Amino acid sequence: MNNNRFRIYPSILTADLGKLDKQISTAEEYGVDGFHIDVMDGQFVPPITFGPIIISHIRKITKLPIDIHMMVIDPERYFDELIDAGADSITIHYESTPDFDNTINKLTSLNVESSVAINPNTSLTSVQNYLAEINQLLIMSVNPGYGGQKFIPSSINKIESAKSLIDQLNLSTKIQVDGGINSNTISNVFTAGADIVVAGSAIYNEMNDIETSIKTLKDSIIL
Ligand code: DX5
Ligand code: ZN
Repeated sequence: MNNNRFRIYPSILTADLGKLDKQISTAEEYGVDGFHIDVMDGQFVPPITFGPIIISHIRKITKLPIDIHMMVIDPERYFDELIDAGADSITIHYESTPDFDNTINKLTSLNVESSVAINPNTSLTSVQNYLAEINQLLIMSVNPGYGGQKFIPSSINKIESAKSLIDQLNLSTKIQVDGGINSNTISNVFTAGADIVVAGSAIYNEMNDIETSIKTLKDSIIL
């Protein structure tokens, strides 16, 4: 199945960085809808990954939306740089700043789509008052930091609750789900109400080529 209701954004975390340009252009050619870039600072999560320099490079390779997932303490320090580098959307973690109100106000005042992520142990009620002012809610279905982890089953209930809350409030806030998405989990995640899924190791892995991996994922969407 392939239509715009079900969007797939590859995460380049497990991509072969030696061939990054080709890994991105091939995924674009086979019909993904955007690219999800995991910016990790070594503090909010242990790893350090990508920053604005690589994002500006990716901006030159693809015309698809560039979706930045900040796993960074005090993320507001980098908003301007990330927007200059070509970010179309920026996600910040609810858990990443002591003054969340101030940080989210800063983000929503900028010329970029705004998104808030919640960890598996963070309740939906913590962020429900922000849903009206943001473009996207990112529900983490693994603990952030690493690709290739197992999908946490209770995420399905959280996605369903988020979907009904958003519908009840008559909002257009999108639901993105990140972590453990593969051919076994993708369909349930979309059925529960996700608009966009992030797929890292299901697309960039050593077992299959990118074309086959994308096709397998799409063919697994049976609603
Ligand atoms: C994890 C990252 C994810 C990661 C997903 O902290 O936010 O975007 O790349 O990887 P998979 O799809 O392999 O779980
Ligand atoms: Zn991510």
